[in-house]
Amino acid sequence: MPSFLFMLQNKKILIAITGSIAAYKIATLVRLMVKENAIVKVIMTDAAQNFISALTLSTLSKNEVHTSLSTDNTWANHVMLGLWADVMLIAPASCNTMSKMANGICDNILQAVYLSARCPILVAPAMDEDMWKHPSTKINIEKIKSFGNIILPVNNGELASGLIGEGRMAEPEFMIDYLKEFFTSKQELFGKKVLITAGPTYEQLDPVRFIGNYSTGKMGIAISKACANRGADVTLVLGPSVEQVPNNIKLINVKSSSEMLDACLLNFKDSDIAIMSAAVADYTPVNVAEQKIKKNDGLMTLELKKTEDILKTLGSIKTGKQILVGFALETENEKENALKKMNNKNADFIVLNSLNDTGAGFAHNTNKITIFDNKGNQFDFETKSKDLVAIDIVQKIITG
Ligand code: CTP
Repeated sequence: MPSFLFMLQNKKILIAITGSIAAYKIATLVRLMVKENAIVKVIMTDAAQNFISALTLSTLSKNEVHTSLSTDNTWANHVMLGLWADVMLIAPASCNTMSKMANGICDNILQAVYLSARCPILVAPAMDEDMWKHPSTKINIEKIKSFGNIILPVNNGELASGLIGEGRMAEPEFMIDYLKEFFTSKQELFGKKVLITAGPTYEQLDPVRFIGNYSTGKMGIAISKACANRGADVTLVLGPSVEQVPNNIKLINVKSSSEMLDACLLNFKDSDIAIMSAAVADYTPVNVAEQKIKKNDGLMTLELKKTEDILKTLGSIKTGKQILVGFALETENEKENALKKMNNKNADFIVLNSLNDTGAGFAHNTNKITIFDNKGNQFDFETKSKDLVAIDIVQKIITG
């Protein structure tokens, strides 16, 4: 039989089940995984056991099911489970469990394993639509994502309440396909070092003021996650940003364009790929006032000097083995300007965002991009969430 049928072969998968009616589907999921020759272990919360029995799951997984931190006088070694797994899949993930995950609460075996796991964690939420749409759920999901965990999409359809809407757990077949993609794509950047810049820069004027821009860093952080998910060793040089960065990414916080340049120069030599997504200031004050600048009656003139172009500097020292990717944010003559930037700065790819496209740019969670390569190719993409745009960019860098 061809080997692609067994992409999950010998993969150690830890399934954590919480209290939701969708728990009954985990019997099918475990069965499908075992058929794929994966090694499956299951943990369950107390609430999960109201929906499906540990006996069913231990029979299907051919492994003992863990339901509490201790049995009789024996302590269940949750740390070992978290170290054993190649991936932990929390499915179905109830509202209650996600709330605990977002807040670091550790009152059952699932939370203890989750908090001590070093493997990637996938979460498949399941709940009624109103719970799914509640602001607290949205906040919890954003928090869980910001810790580096992956949230699988929910389906639209009939819910346990009898209502029709969003909140159904992803189907077992979808999860199997997702895991196959996850494990294969994970290898693609294994052993590669990736340097990424993101966010704005702040150019100081005096002790209380700076020149900055509206960049949030979201796009570059999403690219960092996409690279890390493919096994890359990622260093992110991040300008001032309030966004969370998962701890599998090496973070260097900087403020000004010159600090960003220094951090890039220090790390570029060892990098296989560099992706410059930061909105770097083009100008910086000639003088930084030591004391707060006082207002007076006349016009105020600021004297600015050009900053060094980081992308161009890296382009001038890059070797034939390194891949350099730039961004171009344009408001007019988009293609022409983007191509000019790619050539002037000696980049291999340039990712164009046009502020004329709806859903693109700084203030959005979505983006619409076109990628150009230095061989004359153009690749157009639809408007997508920044996480999905990041995957498109990384995929294009990998496939060339
Ligand atoms: N860039 C950089 N260092 C700078 C300015 C820009 O590394 N001092 C990088 C950005 O990270 C991006 C690319 O250059 O990858 C293009 O940035 P953009 O602001 O679109 O263009 P500029 O070259 O600054 O030109 P202009 O602002 O005139 O459009």
